Amino acid sequence: MRSRYTAADLGVFTRDEASRFVPRGDGDPRSDVVLAWELLYRLEPELYDRLARVERLHPGVVNWLPRDVNRIAEVGAGTGRLTMELAECGRHVVAVEPALPLRRILRRKLAAAGHADRVRVIHGFFDQLPLPADFADLVVACSAFTPSPEHGGEAGLAEMERVCRPGGCVAIIWPNHLAWLTARGYRHVSFPGRMSVEFGSHEEAVELAEIFYPKAAGEIRRHGWRKVPFEVLGINPPRDLAYKVLAS
Ligand SMILES: C[S@@+](CC[C@H](N)C(=O)[O-])C[C@H]1O[C@@H](n2cnc3c(N)ncnc32)[C@H](O)[C@@H]1O
Repeated sequence: MRSRYTAADLGVFTRDEASRFVPRGDGDPRSDVVLAWELLYRLEPELYDRLARVERLHPGVVNWLPRDVNRIAEVGAGTGRLTMELAECGRHVVAVEPALPLRRILRRKLAAAGHADRVRVIHGFFDQLPLPADFADLVVACSAFTPSPEHGGEAGLAEMERVCRPGGCVAIIWPNHLAWLTARGYRHVSFPGRMSVEFGSHEEAVELAEIFYPKAAGEIRRHGWRKVPFEVLGINPPRDLAYKVLAS
């Protein structure tokens, strides 16, 4: 990922995106992997979707989601790893996603699954959600929120809580900074068990590992693996969530 894009690619950002991801206008995706991921979403969205499809959430996380909810808002929906599950849980779901190419893929998947009428896909950012106060029973983000202002931060968490109704729940799934969230009153849930990424084939495992987990690619090739334990890939498995029920 670090060698995939250069500063010449930064022109793909809209003005609103650039103001968040390259506020000084001089980022370098070769030294800033977080920036490289933002470029991936816009330049190679189908490649990102191939990865997201195989990095599946722990079933415990999916089963934890409340059923029969009236309104759900998801922020940073991407190509719908969580959205496709939320479509089964809420009568009305709004999926907020800033990257246009990801919104297009998500709309396509929702239509194919027959969920297009129940899930609205809209443009927006954590720190400026285009939704009214007290809108949703559940406000959720999966592998998208971080304490950094460009990916949420204090302003983003305050926005998620603003959009959640009193007595509703704000949930951060697959969080990367648990202590930051628990310091803000969030409770942690973790689901046990061994977790692996199940690629479509050994060839795909090698191809995607070379791009996204280069340190693991040799071991995957040596073992002929198609199914690769998360520990081998060097990332924490999607088994955790942090949530807060707002006061009624
Ligand atoms: C790793 S992807 C996760 C996507 C999806 N939730 C999933 O689990 O597959 C991170 C997502 O956060 C979105 N994102 C990045 N910055 C954001 C921001 N400031 N506000 C809202 N979403 C943001 C990206 O466009 C991307 O879709």
